[in-house]
Amino acid sequence: MSLFEELNKKIVFVVGGASGIGAAIVETFRNEGAVVVNADYLYENRQLVASQENYWQVHLDVANEATVEQVVSQLVEHSLVPDIFVEVAGISTMDFLTESQTNDFDRVFAVNTRGVYLTSKLIVREMQKQHKKGRVIIIASQAGKNPYRGMSAYVASKHAVIGLTKTLALEVAKDQILVNAVCPGIIETKMKHTEREIGGQLRNMTAEEVLAEDISQVPIGRTGQPQDVANVVLFLASPLASYMTGQAINVTGGMTMH
Ligand SMILES: NC(=O)c1ccc[n+]([C@@H]2O[C@H](COP(=O)([O-])OP(=O)(O)OC[C@H]3O[C@@H](n4cnc5c(N)ncnc54)[C@H](O)[C@@H]3O)[C@@H](O)[C@H]2O)c1
Repeated sequence: MSLFEELNKKIVFVVGGASGIGAAIVETFRNEGAVVVNADYLYENRQLVASQENYWQVHLDVANEATVEQVVSQLVEHSLVPDIFVEVAGISTMDFLTESQTNDFDRVFAVNTRGVYLTSKLIVREMQKQHKKGRVIIIASQAGKNPYRGMSAYVASKHAVIGLTKTLALEVAKDQILVNAVCPGIIETKMKHTEREIGGQLRNMTAEEVLAEDISQVPIGRTGQPQDVANVVLFLASPLASYMTGQAINVTGGMTMH
């Protein structure tokens, strides 16, 4: 019997599952037999469509309250209110704070922080209405615990995400909805590759030099893969994590230890 057999046919709603860490999370839950709804900015279809068996996709912009409301109503109409909600969508910008653009700061907060606020608010409300004793798993970052040069908006947005996670955890514990954040370290995705290019330019380094520096900062001697994060998300969604809530779990190869 699979340790995670209880996930079979559970409804999992992943926001930001079209690429990187989110795509690995989607595949991981599909392999466990869950019914997965994947909502991402990159999808064009405004209506929820089943593209394969037990797999649905829909367009969602977490920065746009109206699209969040529309998607949540569609989940209700299709009896797809989730047992497990995983919020992954996020963006980053890079510049030193004194040289940065206010628009960039606002955009990062609109997606990373306000997006978590809006999606959690509307989805957890429906979970409560249906008395679902579920899980909420939010992808924060080790940047929610440490500062990084050139990433003030991102660092501030992820610190706020951990604050939202802990507050929501406290408020919905009575409903047996468990809320945790995952804090990845350096994970090889499109976002990370772009950060290496732009961060390298800010410091007169090539992307290869930044990669070498990244590896040197990870105690276990390698950067992470999206699957490293998806494995911990699966654990947090499983019965093995039934006594955990309000935590911000590092998946950093030892780079962050607090
Ligand atoms: N890659 C890393 O090293 C790393 C480290 C720590 C935390 N994270 C976090 O992990 C999450 C996933 O990042 P990734 O590295 O896989 O990046 P990615 O760019 O590969 O994936 C991000 C996904 O979010 C979606 N998205 C972006 N804006 C959106 C919006 N407004 N509405 C809906 N979807 C939107 C994108 O379309 C994409 O599918 C982010 O929250 C990121 O901050 C990444």
